[in-house]
Amino acid sequence: MQIQNVRNFAIIAHIDHGKSTLADRIMEQTQTVSDRESQAQLLDDLAVEQAHGVTVKSRTVRNYYTADDGQEYEYNFIDTPGHVDFTYEVSKSLAASDGALLLVDATQGVQAQTVANLRLAQDNHLTVIPVINKIDAAAADVERTAEQIRSLSPDFADVTMLKISAKTGLNVHDVLEAIHTTIPAPTGSLKQPLKALVFDSQYDAFKGIIAYVRLMDGQLKPNDKLKLMATDQPVMANEIGIFTPQRVAAKQLVAGDVGYVVTGLKDPQALRVGDTLTSVANPTATALPGYQPSQSMVFAGFYPQGDHYHDLQLAVEKLALNDASFHYRPESSDALGAGFRCGFLGIFHLQIIRERLHDEYGLDVLTTAPNVTYRVHVKNGDDPLIVDNPIKFPDYSKIDYVEEPLATATITTTSESLSDVMKLATQHKGELQDMRNQGDLVVLEYQLPFAEIAYDFFNALKSVSHGYATLTTELAGYDIADVVKVEVHVNYARVDALSFVVHREDAPLMAQELVHKLKFVIPRKLNPMPVQSVVEGKALARVDVPPLRKNAAANGEKRSTSKKQALLRRQSMNKRQSAHSDIELPQEVFNAVLDLE
Ligand code: GTP
Repeated sequence: MQIQNVRNFAIIAHIDHGKSTLADRIMEQTQTVSDRESQAQLLDDLAVEQAHGVTVKSRTVRNYYTADDGQEYEYNFIDTPGHVDFTYEVSKSLAASDGALLLVDATQGVQAQTVANLRLAQDNHLTVIPVINKIDAAAADVERTAEQIRSLSPDFADVTMLKISAKTGLNVHDVLEAIHTTIPAPTGSLKQPLKALVFDSQYDAFKGIIAYVRLMDGQLKPNDKLKLMATDQPVMANEIGIFTPQRVAAKQLVAGDVGYVVTGLKDPQALRVGDTLTSVANPTATALPGYQPSQSMVFAGFYPQGDHYHDLQLAVEKLALNDASFHYRPESSDALGAGFRCGFLGIFHLQIIRERLHDEYGLDVLTTAPNVTYRVHVKNGDDPLIVDNPIKFPDYSKIDYVEEPLATATITTTSESLSDVMKLATQHKGELQDMRNQGDLVVLEYQLPFAEIAYDFFNALKSVSHGYATLTTELAGYDIADVVKVEVHVNYARVDALSFVVHREDAPLMAQELVHKLKFVIPRKLNPMPVQSVVEGKALARVDVPPLRKNAAANGEKRSTSKKQALLRRQSMNKRQSAHSDIELPQEVFNAVLDLE
């Protein structure tokens, strides 16, 4: 295929605006997939994606399209996720594209991620084609949506709006035509040395690391000797190919193409997404700019259940290869032994990674309560300590002051839900910064502690707004906060993995609530076990986990007094011997911390 007939583009949109449905229609109308295959959504094939009905991973597909001008075009598209926790995945896909279809649901109009994704596309200098979707729906307001899109960017002032139904296929043909008439062909040269961007990767149990590449210049054949420029890591092109959407081997890839390289590398750490692949014999002079590493916003400990540390290690390494926004490093806890401190872009991301560990690696991990990063200034210290693990939170007597991360949250909601949404934001310590109308919707901007939105804010927002409100968040710096560490002591011994950090004003209530929850989930022992929440050395709440056996001294026991006394003596011996907490911690114990209001 001539490079001038190649088009590389991404499909971007707010969550649920119909990207995957449009991707399916494009594959169908270009006969990339058979009718039988297109019965089901083809691209969201991860179990987590089907379970949640959302796209988590970007997907790449090559299609051939015979246009109305009689020419055949190669369309490489990347279907991207819409949820805010996966924005990093979108930005990687955009770096491999020359254009983007910006899909907007006509029943909802422009939403927060529409704006955020458009900004990402413009940052990558892509040609953006706005497309209004779901025009078949009864609630569609096509004209209002068109107005909203026009007001997003001066580039859209005079464009003819494409109005489609990805569901029924209506006007999808117009989209296929607009792609080759509007989006530019790649600009690379076949004669230049190979320069390929690694924009994604995957670990295959048989083939090792597979790099997803976009060739900027040059060409690539099977068995070429290659190297990764950032690390000088040699790579053999064992197999190369394209996505249809399944991987299909090819004889060559040329400038402008999107495809894959089976690298033969087995160590999951040997390749970093964003690196440049070039040839050993004739290397390119400069590497591509690559990506900014993503910044983790939420952290949690992952611990193996039973004796599976090494399985977990391999699994997190491989997952990190497939998801460059997931970070991990080894850590250990007194209560749980060796595990990993993991960093995520948000709480939904955490949940997805846990489920992928289960689905793809058969591992159920113990997950400690998530937390954000604190900057702890200790007395007489110079630089603040960066604490992303409550276990490492210094003793209160040593702390001068603590700073916590703040978020700017942009919430778009209907006017009917406005008061409930505002109430929710205030409950989460939100301070209103700005409020404006956008058509019939209200856009609110709040500043609030990142920890407040890191947990369940998104779900709570969906629930108070009956599913209509949307949220985007951005880190807005750090500010001084009066936070304390809540420790949990079981049988007078601290269980480090259960510690968490909260605002001082919330500590007493949470401490109470927590011990009452723990009472029912901590495995019982032969003797009663006190469970205490301790803040700054003081126990704020206490319950006793009842013992496994009957109380020997209980009234109504048909035993002689001397037998009862003997039993009590034995029990008190037991009690003294076990004044440490060798308890096992099932996931329910951590959920008790997670579920705190
Ligand atoms: P994420 O990848 O999770 O962000 O979602 P998405 O943008 O890929 O949306 P998806 O294609 O999964 O569609 C979301 C829902 O909208 C599904 O229930 C689709 O059936 C529905 N949908 C998509 N396109 C249309 C359309 O043109 N008309 C109508 N009525 N429904 C549509």
